[in-house]
This record gives sequence, structure tokens and C-alpha cells, in this order.
Amino acid sequence: MNILERLVGAVAMIASLLGGGITKALAQDVRVETLSERHALVRVDGGGRYLLLPVQESAPEATVNVLADTRKERDFTVRLAMDKVDYLVPLDLGGLAGRKVILDINLRPREGRGTAAQIDWKALKLSDVFEPEGHETYRPLYHFAPDYGWMNDPNGMVYKDGEWHLFFQYNPFGSQWGNMTWGHAVTRDLVSWKQIDNAIEPDPLGAIFSGSAVEDKENVSGFGAGAIVAMFTSAGQSQTQSIAYSVDGGRTFTKYAGNPVIVYDAPDFRDPKMFLDKGTGQWKVVIAAGQEVQFWTSKNLREWSYESSFGRTYGSHAGVWECPDLVRIGDKDVLIVNINPGGPAGGSATQYFVGKFDGHAFRPDEAPEVTRWMDHGKDHYATVTWSGAPDGRVVALAWMSNWEYAGAVPTKVFRSANSIPRDLSLVKSGNETILKSSPSPEMEALRGTPVRKKVSKSPMALFAEPHQAYELVIRFNIPKGKEASFTLRNDEGEKVEMTFDGAAGEFSMDRRASGETGFSKTFPTVTKAPTNAEGKTELRLFVDAASVEAFGEDFVMTNLVFPSTPYNRIYSNGVKADITIYPLAK
Ligand code: FRU
Repeated sequence: MNILERLVGAVAMIASLLGGGITKALAQDVRVETLSERHALVRVDGGGRYLLLPVQESAPEATVNVLADTRKERDFTVRLAMDKVDYLVPLDLGGLAGRKVILDINLRPREGRGTAAQIDWKALKLSDVFEPEGHETYRPLYHFAPDYGWMNDPNGMVYKDGEWHLFFQYNPFGSQWGNMTWGHAVTRDLVSWKQIDNAIEPDPLGAIFSGSAVEDKENVSGFGAGAIVAMFTSAGQSQTQSIAYSVDGGRTFTKYAGNPVIVYDAPDFRDPKMFLDKGTGQWKVVIAAGQEVQFWTSKNLREWSYESSFGRTYGSHAGVWECPDLVRIGDKDVLIVNINPGGPAGGSATQYFVGKFDGHAFRPDEAPEVTRWMDHGKDHYATVTWSGAPDGRVVALAWMSNWEYAGAVPTKVFRSANSIPRDLSLVKSGNETILKSSPSPEMEALRGTPVRKKVSKSPMALFAEPHQAYELVIRFNIPKGKEASFTLRNDEGEKVEMTFDGAAGEFSMDRRASGETGFSKTFPTVTKAPTNAEGKTELRLFVDAASVEAFGEDFVMTNLVFPSTPYNRIYSNGVKADITIYPLAK
């Protein structure tokens, strides 16, 4: 038996200002008692809205049970700092005022190292405010990224009363995956995002995995006319689907007492995307089940019954199907299915099928062996669309990362950003019908004064001052049977080379020398897209602190890059091109 070692009152009064005056600490007692190698109790007496927890990503994981007057309120996992503090994350004590709060902390055994006594308890702080650490080199300027913490899939995207809601897979206790919660951000213009309070937190049915939200205008659910109804996967011992509703414009959600509302015996059964089927007037939901999707139907958003499955022999099956969506574009229906791994560039990617949904089942137009990718880059995943977008628009958003290395990218207090929003349409390319993603028109509002230049063989400055965020519109002729290439470069010689190969009918992006690439073996890579573009064409590039999104006439390619300084030059392989350069700023 271990000796019970007690460190009573280990943490003293905290009266210092932290992080350049951004965090106001209170003079309060936080008493720590370590009870065994793996177990500690932290008693928090008194005020302070937040308990700031020090995180070290390489530290062993601890499970924290939050007790108030001895009742368990919640639990979560966190890697409490031992040797160094990477950053602080806040535990909101707001709802527990006046109650005796105890954090019951259990270290999980990992690599046999780390004891409760080694935790840097002195770094625990009570504070009335929490401001995440400021600027990081790779924090995007015009893409949404959480203020702090880990983000993956966009969830519950719904447009209501002029507001675009973005919920997202979120870990509020560290910038690695875990504690899946629906974070929440809103925008009125699709470019200025504001992260607000988390919307849906884990419960005894499980963590809150991906899902969707709709506006129940007719009050078929009985939750209230205009309620936002969200459906998500409760990821517990099994994956089941649950719902929650909001009658205050998405600010707060109430979980439905009858959860879960859809159960099915399959290990991977998740990511419900609801939509209103105009033909039958019924609500439908498409759910990923292993390597196919299922359609379920409902009249009231609460009771659901199974209708059909699709996909067993269709498209790519090199990984698990996740995050499906069904959208109507013109007189066609497009089924979007994300798949991981098995993408064209390795790892995560988004495939789609064009066809018809007859109100009960989906029938594709093309043969089973045809696989179509929505984006040919390596960082475009979990793509889904907004419910209720205005003017019949179909607007999609992707998580701009890849499960191969999402946890290793060189950011610190936050991890991952989303793509820019994209309007979807169906277009002809050669004699095929393809799903085209175009930058949403709102992106143009970010444009500063344009500069027009002619690209040449020698590197040419884009701006007088280095800009981290810009859009380039490159107009040129693809020489018949030859290559046209454009290279972005910085002062360090780091570069991203983009090539149209006229002979192969291919566009490629080479990020092998783009900057920091060593954090994952699969990051340095050349991604390729088929293209039928020939002759006069246009390439639009959206560059931000850590990404390049290339929009051609019949392809899109989204890739992360981590240059040590911004790319501030461009040159071609001799092909003459006209470029318009727009600095982008919010
Ligand atoms: C896709 C995914 C979903 C799941 C979520 C969990 O990236 O694996 O299938 O709901 O992430 O965070």
C-alpha cells in the first residue's frame, strides 16, 4: 500500500497578474490533498468564476470529477502540467457558486510515470476572467478557429434570423481530441466569427459527437415554433442518436428527456444530418453506419423510423464512412459522405454521389465503381452544409485538417481551423457532372485594395509589406500539352508549388518544402486533382497563416502549410499570367 501523503494547503494565495495583465487572479484558497500516487482532491473555497487548470500535453491524462456539496456535477479529462505549463484552460465554476466544490482527480496510469504529487499544483489559479493566450503564428486571420482548445468537425450548422450558427466538435480542456462537446460560434456575414458559450456538454449517455441542427418553424416537435432542434451522436458504450432543443436562438439547449431517439446495433453509427424532404413533407435524417448510410424518417423530430440504406458497393470503402449529408441542388440530390482513411491524398477526405432521393431512398446516377472527391487536398474533412441557408444557397464548410496528423500540427493553445465557406453547385466538366465548390461570395467583403501584376520567371514581391492573409486571382493560358506552374515563396526559400499539367490533365500542389513539415511523416506531400481545364483559365488562391485553398474551374484543393514567415513572392515557370492580389482583412 502506498503511504497516504498529504499536502494540505499546498496552494497559497494567488495575487499575481498572469500573461501580461490579461488574467485577473483573485486572492482565494485552493487546497490540494494528494491521497495516493494517482489520487488527489482539490477543494475550492470561495469565489472566482474560473479555476484555471495548467495543461502539459505530454503529461499523463487525469480524470476530474467535479463535486458540488458532494454531488457529482460533471467529469472530464485533462493533462495536468507536471514539468512545464503549456497553457491554461478554464473550468467554469459559475453555476456552482455558494456550494462546496471538490475536484476529485484520478491520474490514469500511463508509461508508468507521473504521480499526483508531481502535478504543478501551484499553477492552479482562481480567476474572474479567462483570456486565452494571444497571438500564435499559425492562428488564421479569416478562417474560424476556436479561441483555445481542440476542434474537429463542423456540427449543427443552421441559419436562423440572419445568424449563421456553427457548432463544432470541441475539447474545452486541451488542444488534443477529448471531452467531446458542441462548441458554438456565430456570424452574420460568414466571415467575422464570434465564439460563444459551449452549447451541448457530455452526459451519462456519452460524449457529444457530430450531428446537425434544423429550425422547427412549424413546431412539429412541440418544443416551440422556431426552436432549433439539434441531433447528435451520444458516444457512450454504444453510439446512439439524441436530440436537444433551443428556444433562445441557439444560446442554450435542453436535452430531450426521451433520449436516445435512434438506436441501432452497429459499432460505428453516427453523425446524423437532418433535412426536410419537400416531396413527403417529412423530416429525414441520414446517418453513417459503418461503411454505408441509413435514412430514417420522422413527422415530429422526436420519433424516428428506419427507411433505407445506401452505399454498400458504391464509391470508396477504404475507410469508415462518417458525417454524411444530403442536399438538393437544382433537380438533383447530392449525397456527401466523408471517409477516413482512404482519401485521394491519404487519410481523411470527402466523397459525394449525384443522384435522386425519392423521399425514402437514394439512387445514384453513376456506376458503383465511380468515386468522386469534393476536394483533392489533404485537409478537407467532415464537410457538411448549413440547414436553412437563405436564397436557396447550399453552403458547405469543412474541417481543415486530416486525422493522420491533426493532433500534431504546430499550434499550441488551439488546434484546427475550418475551410472558408463554399457555395456548392453542379457543373459540367467534360461530359461529367461534378459538384463544384466556389468561395462563398461573402469572402469578397474581406478584400482590400487590389494590385495587378504580371507573373514572371523570377520571384516577384506580392506586397511591399508582408501579408499573412490574401487572395490571388491568377489568369493565364494552359499551354497545350505543357505545364504551367506557380510558386509561392517566402524569404526563407520555403515554397508551395502549384502545377497545371496540360498533358496529364492534372493540377498538383507540392507542399514538401512549404515550411514546418516534420511533425508527421505523411504531411510533406504532393496532392493531385484531375482537371479538364484547357486554354484560358483562372486559379483563385486563398492564403492564410497556415493554409492554401486553390479553386480552379473544375477542382478544389485545400492544404495546410506552416511557413516560418509568410509567403511574400510568386513566380511562374515562364508562363505569362495576370494576377490580381487582394490583401484580406476583417
Ligand atoms: C469525424 C468524427 C465523427 C465523430 C467525431 C468525433 O471526424 O470521427 O465521425 O462524430 O469525429 O469527434
